Amino acid sequence: MAGGLARLTDELGILYGGDYNPEQWDREVWREDVALMREAGVNLVTVGVFSWSHLEPRPGEYRFAWLDEVLDLLHDAGIAVDLATPVASPPPWLGHRHPESLPTTADGTVLSYGSRNQFCPSSDAYRTAAVAIAEQVAARYARHPAVRMWHAGNEYGQVCFCDRCAERFRDWLRARYGTLDDLNAAWATAVWSQEYGDWAEILPPRVAPYHRNPAQELDFRRFGSDLLLDLYREQKAVVRRHDRDRPVTTNLMGFFGGIDPHDWRADLDVVADDAYPDPASPDAAADAALVNHLARGLAGGGSWLRMEQAASAVSWREHNLTKSPERLRTEVLQALAHGCDGALFFQWRQARSGPERFHSAMLPVAGADTAVHQGVRSLGAELRALRGLVGEPVHRRVALLWDWTSWWAATQVALPTARLDPLATLQAWHRELWRLGVVADVVPADRADVALHDYDLVLAPAQYVLDDDSAARLDAYVAGGGHLVWGPFGGVADGLSHLHAGRSPAPLRHVLGVSAEEWVPLPDGGSAVAWSGAGVEGLRGTAATLGERTRSDGADVLATYDDGPLAGCVAVARHAHGSGRTWYVGTALAGPAGGLGDVLRAALDDAGVLLGGQGPGVETVWRGGVLVAINHADRSTTLDLAAARAVGPAAVPTAVLTDLLTGARHDGSATLPLAPYDVVVLATGRP
Ligand code: GAL
Ligand code: ZN
Repeated sequence: MAGGLARLTDELGILYGGDYNPEQWDREVWREDVALMREAGVNLVTVGVFSWSHLEPRPGEYRFAWLDEVLDLLHDAGIAVDLATPVASPPPWLGHRHPESLPTTADGTVLSYGSRNQFCPSSDAYRTAAVAIAEQVAARYARHPAVRMWHAGNEYGQVCFCDRCAERFRDWLRARYGTLDDLNAAWATAVWSQEYGDWAEILPPRVAPYHRNPAQELDFRRFGSDLLLDLYREQKAVVRRHDRDRPVTTNLMGFFGGIDPHDWRADLDVVADDAYPDPASPDAAADAALVNHLARGLAGGGSWLRMEQAASAVSWREHNLTKSPERLRTEVLQALAHGCDGALFFQWRQARSGPERFHSAMLPVAGADTAVHQGVRSLGAELRALRGLVGEPVHRRVALLWDWTSWWAATQVALPTARLDPLATLQAWHRELWRLGVVADVVPADRADVALHDYDLVLAPAQYVLDDDSAARLDAYVAGGGHLVWGPFGGVADGLSHLHAGRSPAPLRHVLGVSAEEWVPLPDGGSAVAWSGAGVEGLRGTAATLGERTRSDGADVLATYDDGPLAGCVAVARHAHGSGRTWYVGTALAGPAGGLGDVLRAALDDAGVLLGGQGPGVETVWRGGVLVAINHADRSTTLDLAAARAVGPAAVPTAVLTDLLTGARHDGSATLPLAPYDVVVLATGRP
């Protein structure tokens, strides 16, 4: 259902709130919660995510009075509810009575109850019980006026290697391949004597003496994602029997490998994403932006929802740095700038017990008289003033290609190097874009429904898998005038992890004008790179980790390896293809002089993409006619409004900008001071 999120935001404005777990508290606390929520500007809470054992303490014995009361209380206070089907964590009775409902790891260990998420997604006992409790919840509350959205399960990601999952895997493979011969061919089972003579012999990729079959592993990943999608759909179908109308979703986890979210997005009425940037990382702000760009890409460029984040520290890292209220505010407003229409948290009230007792919350264990809670309150008030941003499009002209098949395949074992991590490569490229002030959508290369022509420049930092259809789409994009930057170790394999035959990247080499015959890990310390050719004056950098034994098949060579195993080979090249242009960057460019950033800047210039960079740590984003400028750094700086306006949407009127948070008006060519962690949100007349 398109517009699922708009239904909520039309009514409530920017969504603000979080997971609320009243089953952990008594009645008096509920009343205090609701009063404090109102004061904090909370308008939506997610209830019931982990309440299964509290709702159904014994099989078929239901206890709803407490939830009736909680939903009534919330509704009376004007707080809407995203109601969960509480199936993420089954009660102990399920595992006790049906041990086969427990999940099995790849090494055969059965995981116990006593934590959470302990279910085998193929288990009939689990699925029957999960449908039954969802049925009860949906039937009882579908007409409750507090309920505005449904939250099926939580962070789907379970995998299981048990015998039942093996059967299901075989069914999935039968549907995909039809015959054993085709399966044997697809999995290349002639390698290492793996040919299957009977479907019954096929297993999930369990722990084995040596490396697993890469094609089998990839198919098991796909199967796992599909199996969980089945579970989600089963839950959604239950809800739909009782509520034909209100949006149903579940929460994704950014760059989480367990499911392929591109296969899920059509079933999600709202794209909802959980994010916990690490305050200890010097790249936290850039990497947080990348996660936001992924969520927006999943939402087809439209609005999305941050379903979970931390108000301060998490409790699951080894060393959990806190976040100041100012820093939290930058993260929330950054997401808003990137198309997010709601800021929800895990969780409303900090737990006093259980494994998450040290996880921060909107309301800390120390109470309301705390910096964290006061920060939450003032943020709630500010979000009300920013309602006009809801639904507005984010101004962006660049795409970063990223798909799950390629990620999965590029992180398998027995590659030329295990040091070229694809996600790290994506992050490295994006950090350069971020520094240059360029906003990019993260979109998959392997889906036909991505309109590449909407972008002036497409970057493919880590496109290890490239099937022929995807290559044909990239070819057409460039031939039609698009610009493409192609990264190292790209286009190497197909969707089953088989290497393409011929010089690499076989399906795209004619588009790049460069081809490689060998992938060459570089010695520690990398290789020097020599730059030459027009337009590369001043480019520097060294090659690191991996390069390719290349030659130019017509491309203009911009850089060659200067020493090491690839001396003389093409490291960076540029090529005209049709009416477009490609850039080949065949290695991880590193070095104090930038290297990668310089090449990307040249490609952006070439594609006519203007740079919004305003200096270290300052991010500027245009959403609709509103400029959001964020100082992510712990030091004062300035914002050049004329420069920021120059990269905005063409239709933006110029003379005066109004700060939506303070009401201050600024001359359109002024330079504004930005305090540490300052954010300004400036309207130009629209919206
Ligand atoms: C999420 C989860 C929440 C909570 C949170 C803590 O993965 O959905 O229930 O555990 O992490 O950061
Ligand atoms: Zn299983």
